[in-house]
Amino acid sequence: MSSESGRANREPGSATGAGPAPAIRLEGVRFAFPVDGHHTDVIGGLDLEIAPRSIVALVGPNGCGKSTLLRVIAGLLPARTGSVEVEGRPVAGPDSRVGLVFQEPRLLPWRTAFANVAFPLEVAGRDRAARERRVTDLLGLVGLRDWSRARPAELSGGMRQRVAIARALALEPAVLLLDEPFSALDALTRERFNVELLRLWERIGATIVLVTHSIAEAVFLADRVLVLSPRPAQLVADVVVNLPRPRRPGDLDAAAVTRTAAEIRAHLEGATDDAFAIATGDVPAHPQPEQAIP
Ligand SMILES: Nc1ncnc2c1ncn2[C@@H]1O[C@H](COP(=O)(O)OP(=O)(O)OP(=O)(O)O)[C@@H](O)[C@H]1O
Ligand SMILES: [Mg+2]
Repeated sequence: MSSESGRANREPGSATGAGPAPAIRLEGVRFAFPVDGHHTDVIGGLDLEIAPRSIVALVGPNGCGKSTLLRVIAGLLPARTGSVEVEGRPVAGPDSRVGLVFQEPRLLPWRTAFANVAFPLEVAGRDRAARERRVTDLLGLVGLRDWSRARPAELSGGMRQRVAIARALALEPAVLLLDEPFSALDALTRERFNVELLRLWERIGATIVLVTHSIAEAVFLADRVLVLSPRPAQLVADVVVNLPRPRRPGDLDAAAVTRTAAEIRAHLEGATDDAFAIATGDVPAHPQPEQAIP
């Protein structure tokens, strides 16, 4: 039996059996930014389980709370209610089990690519020899071994993102969170990076949660695509992508891709139509997830 079918078998609901703990579990997670002394929910009560070593794509309209959700999972923002667990243990603050690549690569401009990737290892107190070994491996993994001495300003946008990914992987996280990592790249480069990302994922064996606005990208990469409602983010749909791995752009079953993409699009459009309806006062301001499904 292939590893793909094994992975598919660990899809939704697997944690109710005797299998391994989910890589990520959210229970009743709400989050709100305080604005002018008020709290308006950005994440409106999310329950979620993500299987180990799977890739999950998050899609949803602008401002619905995707980046915020990644920060909550990474422990950079505290859930207002509910719990976040990684590999069965709570996330109570910034956590080395979770690597996060932000929407804009946040590299230290005065440090070389090498020194940027080394940064978390320095903070974690790894000795110089261990750091050098790890950073060399990581730069090789993301195809930038020859660019180790370059500073961020000397790198293209895509290269900077690869440095950011290498840095996020430095402490061997079980979970890698990617916030629209390739959105600034041209279409062909982006396709190539997606293929590279799948290769990387096969090698590191981490669970990946990826935010994207591209339905095609979500279908190509993910085992599951979670469609979120407009703010406050709630789960509108959980679409399983039933395509075999390894995946390459040319040899996917076109009919299955089209069918899955159409399903995701319908859920997204339903959610976004409701957002317009909310703006014009046609439906209650806090729709239940099922109301957003056409
Ligand atoms: N630091 C902050 N303080 C107050 N409100 C914030 C803050 N950061 C984000 N928000 C609000 O929270 C909501 C969700 O923002 P978030 O960045 O998570 O959305 P998103 O789904 O990632 O959007 P996009 O697709 O545009 O990246 C938005 O309404 C945003 O204005
Ligand atoms: Mg965002």
